[in-house]
Amino acid sequence: YKPVSLSTVRRAGLRPARRAGTFFFPTSRRAMAVRFDIITIFPGMFSSVVSESIVGRAVKSGLVEINRVDLRDFTEDKHRSVDDRPYGGGPGMVFKPEPVFDAVENVLGEVGSSAEPGIRKIILTPQGRRLDQPLMRELSGESRIALLCGHYEGFDHRIVEGLGFEEVSIGDYVLSGGELPAMVLIDGIVRLLPGALGHPESSEQESFENGVLDFPQYTRPPEYRGMKVPEVLLSGNHAEIEQWRHERALERTRASRGDLLEKLELQETGQELDN
Ligand code: ADE
Repeated sequence: YKPVSLSTVRRAGLRPARRAGTFFFPTSRRAMAVRFDIITIFPGMFSSVVSESIVGRAVKSGLVEINRVDLRDFTEDKHRSVDDRPYGGGPGMVFKPEPVFDAVENVLGEVGSSAEPGIRKIILTPQGRRLDQPLMRELSGESRIALLCGHYEGFDHRIVEGLGFEEVSIGDYVLSGGELPAMVLIDGIVRLLPGALGHPESSEQESFENGVLDFPQYTRPPEYRGMKVPEVLLSGNHAEIEQWRHERALERTRASRGDLLEKLELQETGQELDN
């Protein structure tokens, strides 16, 4: 780390430290693959994701940077309130625009500034585009992703319109806030980054990557509580093992996710038409 001026920190989109003195800027030689800026009213919820498992390792090695921003730091009233009652009536509260605009502009720079086009801005909300593995892959190619975690009944819509956020949902159910969905997104993206997993091919051979679910796996011992590992896996015959795995993967997908097979069939017929 080398000491730099406050304006350099701001230009780089980093949040200046609150205490007075010198600011530091990471000068690691290794290219950082992704930086996440998370805007939330519960920054503490991210502690385990930042420090444990694959994401924790990627953060330690400098492959990933996770910047947590407390939305309440951008409120001006004594109660540090981030929400208000909805116009038109109804239950629940709505995130107000002012703290969110201030937080976003402080962290990412002014709306429309030159740094901005390179930043992918996502709000986690049940109203969004549904997250799936192709979207995870697409996001793993970004170098900077801002995540805004909602609560209560939602956001003032000017946040979406005025700040250019895209809405993403992690599934058709409602959680109490966007923090867990943001963690789901981070985990799914980071494990796709080159160098994050032990084996580079591990993420290519798994569920959803080929449009089907994963085949069943076994390890030692060959027999446990009367249950045997399928003979073919002990055979050493790679062609037969491949065939067996392919069949089991299709069988599983048919049993629990017929929708995936339908999608795959549509894609295949689509490709034939293209040719
Ligand atoms: N916030 C609450 N529920 C959510 C969901 N299913 N996806 C994304 N954000 C959410």
